[in-house]
Amino acid sequence: MSATRPAFAPIHAALETVSIGPSTLRNRLVVAPMSRVSAPVGLATAAMKRYYEAFAIGGFGLIVTEGIYPDLAYSQGYEDQPGLATEEQAAAWRPVVDAVHAAGGAIFAQLMHAGALSQGNRHKTKTLGPSAVQPRGEKMSEYGGSGPFSRPVAMTDGDIDDVLEGFAGAAVRARNAGFDGVEIHGANGYLIDQFLTTYTNQRTDQYGGPVANRVRFAASVVSAVRRAVGAEFPIGIRLSQTKVNDFEYRWPGGAEDGKAIFAAVRDAGVAFIHIASEGRNWLDTAQLAEGVTITGLARAVAGVPVIANGGMHEPARAARVLQEGHADLVSLGRGALANPDYPRRLASGAHLEPFDHAMLSPNATLENAETWRSARERLLPCPA
Ligand SMILES: Cc1cc2nc3c(=O)[nH]c(=O)nc-3n(C[C@H](O)[C@H](O)[C@H](O)COP(=O)(O)O)c2cc1C
Repeated sequence: MSATRPAFAPIHAALETVSIGPSTLRNRLVVAPMSRVSAPVGLATAAMKRYYEAFAIGGFGLIVTEGIYPDLAYSQGYEDQPGLATEEQAAAWRPVVDAVHAAGGAIFAQLMHAGALSQGNRHKTKTLGPSAVQPRGEKMSEYGGSGPFSRPVAMTDGDIDDVLEGFAGAAVRARNAGFDGVEIHGANGYLIDQFLTTYTNQRTDQYGGPVANRVRFAASVVSAVRRAVGAEFPIGIRLSQTKVNDFEYRWPGGAEDGKAIFAAVRDAGVAFIHIASEGRNWLDTAQLAEGVTITGLARAVAGVPVIANGGMHEPARAARVLQEGHADLVSLGRGALANPDYPRRLASGAHLEPFDHAMLSPNATLENAETWRSARERLLPCPA
């Protein structure tokens, strides 16, 4: 990671440039991955192009796409989720990628296997997981689900090989479609996190038991993708303690678990780590009992750029995280929806719009997002 300081310091630390692998980003502001379930048969649409392009026009250095399913077997999480499982799906992303690049932004594809939290794959009710453990909570209505999740089928060694192959193939398709990198979704309770989590992983083989075994699946995914795309293409992983269906879970071994997890993904070849904060702000989910933050620990152990998340639209919080060395970049979810031109607003000191949950109501589709359209229409003009 390297940073270039302009001759005069920008007014906020997030406005400095930063590099992830070979990609130099114009600032440290990242759009967090957000599922919008607006891609019939998994194909990215013209509305999605306008949606992602607006963040690039608004000045974000990097956009991480919504979670994209990598294979046609069991990875899909929701109806109308976009895919990178076929060449046709990859081709549909091309106009999105080109529009973001034309507006000066970079874009990484988030590759996501939903595992036991799938609420809409083509096998309908059959889902896969590390062990046959009924997931907590219920399917999410904002993504078109209702009622309890299915009890997953415990994955065989053959299933694991298929999933690794799926991630690797999708990463190659992402690279060939022009994406600047991929982020492997290892957070928030989806398949990779199900392997990391003690109560969803009850395996007795090399993927279960102590943390060194529970992280083996995450590291195997990174290694498989690294082998497929070569040494240069940026691959990152998103990790978290909390989950969409469990805001309370914390890594039972605290910082010791963190060290093992970050060392394993480092050795497998990640170029960045993104720590998600599901449902809470960064400090609530990042503070470890040992007095270190999970993002700071990731930086120290892995030695790669780290993205912090969770309420980072508050400028003072983001400045603190960056200046105190807890992270190298910050990602904004809800703050970016309310302010697709957040970087321009931060640079000019303009008013920041508060997030309004109506933007995701009654569900997260772009079609329902009247307020999103008005946010887009309010984009600040490009400085002369
Ligand atoms: C509508 C919506 C969809 C989301 N979808 C994803 C997703 O596909 N992948 C993911 O890793 N996180 C997803 N998240 C979580 C966000 O990336 C982020 O971690 C969360 O919103 C907290 O950040 P914030 O405080 O900036 O909003 C989603 C969040 C929202 C609001």
